[in-house]
Amino acid sequence: MISGGSQPASASVDALVRSEVAVRSRAAAHSATARAHTNIALVKYWGKKDAALRLPFTSSISMTLERFYADTSFTLLPSTQESEFILDGAPVPPHRAARVLDYVAAMQQRHGVSGPFRIESVNHVPISAGLASSSSAFAALAAAFVGAYGLGSRELCEATKSPVKTSGPVDRTELSRMARLGSGSASRSVFGGFAKWERGTDDATSVGVSLDEKPQLDLCLTAIEIDTAQKSVSSTAGMRRVVETSPYYPVWVENTERACSQMEDAIAAADFTGIGTLAQQNALDMHALNMTAHPGFTYFQPETLTAIATVEALNNDGVECYFTIDAGPNIKVLSRSENVEEISRRFRALMPAVTIASTSFGPGVEYLQAQVRE
Ligand code: PMV
Repeated sequence: MISGGSQPASASVDALVRSEVAVRSRAAAHSATARAHTNIALVKYWGKKDAALRLPFTSSISMTLERFYADTSFTLLPSTQESEFILDGAPVPPHRAARVLDYVAAMQQRHGVSGPFRIESVNHVPISAGLASSSSAFAALAAAFVGAYGLGSRELCEATKSPVKTSGPVDRTELSRMARLGSGSASRSVFGGFAKWERGTDDATSVGVSLDEKPQLDLCLTAIEIDTAQKSVSSTAGMRRVVETSPYYPVWVENTERACSQMEDAIAAADFTGIGTLAQQNALDMHALNMTAHPGFTYFQPETLTAIATVEALNNDGVECYFTIDAGPNIKVLSRSENVEEISRRFRALMPAVTIASTSFGPGVEYLQAQVRE
């Protein structure tokens, strides 16, 4: 709104310029492309308290990864056209696109916008790396949506290097909320470096926060692909089953909340050993918990245990490293950069067929482009 009247002249001119820029940009920006990097949870989210709002039982902490990301464009279409979703160059059939299209409809309702759109997403999270891609996918989609409708705040535009400057209502906290509503882990991918998803108590308070956007710590992640097959229990189904049936679920909640505060201390102290030890124990806790559900289940395969034994052997040989495992059989090894080569060499010698990819800290969400209609 343009206000005037009793305000001092400079303030009202400033407000006028600001709101004009906002209105013009909102009308003009009709397409935006955002890049979001995937993240690996060091303290894991494993259970929803509220499925519709994706509120978790616990907070979680992650490392955003440089090498794995999604580039997503969101384009507003004329009202005569149909919405479409193109993934890695191929149109996604409606029944498979439903989760994404429903998500966008919910975001449109949340922000009072409407109309058909085209989403084009290119995943640079090689399936072969065995890393979940939903964290980067929904963070990139939420950001592209915000960019295309010109909803970003000044803070958001600055933090994300947006080529179009707007002064809308969506800051990085709201962007993280929006990402969370697509996929819980995506709330953390809005931020680079180390990020935390505060469990919160409602939609407003369950958000990602930055713990350290540009860590100085020498910490690398080596992803070792053991199996690329679709997992038999999706993360949504797995977490629901432990919440509903495991007698140990309350213990997981208590341990994970404690692990979060210890992990925050370890990150603040740049304590590599502390971070690795806590991450490994939290992953073991999660996978042990899955076996205590009714019926119990595991994501491990025989090679997962071989990989765990390899990490132990590396440590015995003086190569300090730790593992973490998400909702699948693949292992990710945390180490200092000087040991990445030796870790890869050991795994390659043991499992010649596996794909191995190493990376370190990546940035938060950034805009690659935004088109402005003159
Ligand atoms: O956000 P989702 O639904 O993909 O679930 C993520 C679950 C884990 O990757 C196992 C843990 C986490 O915090 O990322």
